[in-house]
Amino acid sequence: MKYITAVLSGMLLLSGVQLAQADAIEAGKQAFQKHACASCHGDDAKTSTQPDYPILAGQHRDYLEQALMAYRRGQAGAPASSNVRNNAIMGAMAAQLSAEEIKNISAWLATLESPLGVRR
Ligand code: HEC
Repeated sequence: MKYITAVLSGMLLLSGVQLAQADAIEAGKQAFQKHACASCHGDDAKTSTQPDYPILAGQHRDYLEQALMAYRRGQAGAPASSNVRNNAIMGAMAAQLSAEEIKNISAWLATLESPLGVRR
């Protein structure tokens, strides 16, 4: 009985974690729309409106988080370093995002099908 209770509560905990992750992904999709990211990167985050606007769909989550935080630092006037990106457009965009939104948007983008990848 103890064993069954432990297994059941383990399963409940796991589905709770998966639910939280699904919520974060949905929130990320909404934040992407709310902040008009799609106006440059496309609704699907891979059909950019200009060739020099990068594809975001399918990029690694931690890379995206790092990039957005680096734009925020650049916008806040941090001196140039490998953790700072200076870009007028993305600096202004990233400065509007909360840390939570950055995490959620990155989680959503990482789930999308994408042409990005290493081809050998
Ligand atoms: C006005 C057009 C425009 C808008 C709006 C815009 N972006 Fe960008 N984005 C760019 C451009 C241009 C770059 C490349 C900048 C550079 O050279 O660093 C970029 C780069 C990025 C990168 C880095 C990609 C990489 O491969 O390193 C991320 C992540 C990103 N944008 C996310 C977003 C998010 C999230 C939003 C909405 C909050 C957004 N962008 C809104 C034009 C835009």
